[in-house]
Amino acid sequence: MTTLITGATGQLGTLVVKHLLDRLPVSEIAVSVRTSAKAENLAALGVDVRHGDFDDLALMTTAFKGIETVLIISAEADNATRIAQHRTAVDAAKAAGVKHLVYTSIIDPRADADFTYSAIHLDTENYIKESGLNYTFLRNSFYADLLLAGVPHALETGAYGAPAGDAKITYIPRNDLAEAAAVVLANPKNHINATYDLTGAKAVTHTEIASYIAKATGKDITFADLPADVHVGILNSIGLPGHLVEALAGLYVGAKKGDYETVSDDFETLVGRKPQSVEDFIRIALTN
Ligand SMILES: NC(=O)c1ccc[n+]([C@@H]2O[C@H](COP(=O)([O-])OP(=O)(O)OC[C@H]3O[C@@H](n4cnc5c(N)ncnc54)[C@H](OP(=O)(O)O)[C@@H]3O)[C@@H](O)[C@H]2O)c1
Repeated sequence: MTTLITGATGQLGTLVVKHLLDRLPVSEIAVSVRTSAKAENLAALGVDVRHGDFDDLALMTTAFKGIETVLIISAEADNATRIAQHRTAVDAAKAAGVKHLVYTSIIDPRADADFTYSAIHLDTENYIKESGLNYTFLRNSFYADLLLAGVPHALETGAYGAPAGDAKITYIPRNDLAEAAAVVLANPKNHINATYDLTGAKAVTHTEIASYIAKATGKDITFADLPADVHVGILNSIGLPGHLVEALAGLYVGAKKGDYETVSDDFETLVGRKPQSVEDFIRIALTN
């Protein structure tokens, strides 16, 4: 009855393993990682560390051998590459005899979403369903953690910039999404073929976010609504890959249309408490 987490050396995966260690004996937890050296701490804890890469079907199939439930944490690449990688992970799971796939998807996955990565998640969800394996989809909203990237600039200039207008977005801390995943992985049979919309308890505007940063730091900070082309120019200037720039720009275009403002109580139903608010997340991140 072993559970395996892919991407366990990433930020979300690290937190999922931490929360799962609170819920399952270490002997029931395995991870697959691309670089074993990054997982030495997990191996020292007694976690079964396996070598896996979504670009390698044979390696992935070996990594999944003897595993009952796998959490596929979505990878990071352009759409065509990532769709192929996720399909490889699903094929490997099926070939290895895995019974249940849990997948970190996105809120409202759509082929035509302005947030271009959304199409990847729709493809992966459909491919998992077609595999015939049991599944659980964790449709994660956007990480509140992402909001911290603009804080140093805001502290320097007083302007917290984003091309967000009045968009409301249901940001939720990555740590809460990890705990929700661990709850599912600890008792997967309770979540067979379920889909969960994991959002914050409130959709917040960037004006509110700027006010939370101001309150936490005691600085005079206000929201600056960036023109879309200025935002894209900034993202390009810091060297982000084109597919990521396109996805981030599209996220705000979609958000302004209301794509990411719908609050769900699925998190509370799963975990038994409300997610940490964006205000509390920012206060704790900036005052500790
Ligand atoms: N909801 C949101 O707001 C949001 C924001 C950003 C990203 N995401 C998605 O959520 C995922 C997890 O987020 P995160 O913050 O934990 O990202 P992260 O820290 O970049 O971790 C991504 C993990 O995916 C692994 N990975 C990448 N390519 C892989 C491949 N070809 N085969 C196997 N593993 C591969 C990485 O392995 P290594 O450790 O070996 O590099 C890493 O462990 C991201 O990859 C992305 O798809 C969601």
